[in-house]
Amino acid sequence: MGWEGSRSRHRIEASDYSGAFLFLPLHPSAPDQPNRTMPLKIDVLTLFPRMLDGFLAESILGKGIAAGHLGVAVHDLRTWSTDKHRTADDRPFGGGAGMVMKPEPVFAAMEQLQTPGCRRIYLTPDGGPFSMAIAEQLSREQHLILLSGHYEGIDQRIREKLIDQEISIGDYVLTNGTLAAAVVIDALARFIPGVLGEEKSLTHESFTSKLLDFPQYTRPAEFRGMSVPEVLLSGNHAEIEKWRAARQLEKTRSVRPDLLT
Ligand code: ADE
Repeated sequence: MGWEGSRSRHRIEASDYSGAFLFLPLHPSAPDQPNRTMPLKIDVLTLFPRMLDGFLAESILGKGIAAGHLGVAVHDLRTWSTDKHRTADDRPFGGGAGMVMKPEPVFAAMEQLQTPGCRRIYLTPDGGPFSMAIAEQLSREQHLILLSGHYEGIDQRIREKLIDQEISIGDYVLTNGTLAAAVVIDALARFIPGVLGEEKSLTHESFTSKLLDFPQYTRPAEFRGMSVPEVLLSGNHAEIEKWRAARQLEKTRSVRPDLLT
């Protein structure tokens, strides 16, 4: 079964698709991005596929997948291990602590999944920094393969021969790259037209303007002695805009002054 053939609601175990967990569109929609002929397809290669179960089924992302704006297949790398213990890692040449991801399963997986023009990304703390700009670029691709690394790293030949881009989601080390892959998927999905119900919610928020966000309030106007700033109740839109811009600047100066330089 290919991607396009499925009409199943997401989270099915497809024994005829390398044992992948598929999160596929219920009704693949006509894509409304220029140059796109099919919804974005993302393959995730990981040793911990179940880490992504809830994440892909829930919330705005789950709805975006069900509505046909993108499709995600999560693959267990051990599917491509050939020995009886389904080994995916081994001791490093030259010595040292920990284990290194073996090349054979990753090469076999990539060779099976890759398509002409697809972008192959390795999630690693020593990759280039992830950003809104990169999320936006990736949202315009046709096909992404996200490789999650584990242990002390992966065999260098994988990085040299199979990887187009290496991404770090921040200066800290996670136990594996699967959560980093989730972060990348979540951030890029928000740029796919239709995924966010209200298109305008992208335009005002932190980082699209290089300023952090302004404070938000909702009903009730008075809660446990704390009141909503008067200006927000005034109906004066020019004043509200002015107040919000001032709060954004104040917050950015205090928390992220580097964004202003
Ligand atoms: N794998 C482990 N830590 C990571 C990070 N910070 N970014 C991307 N992948 C990772």
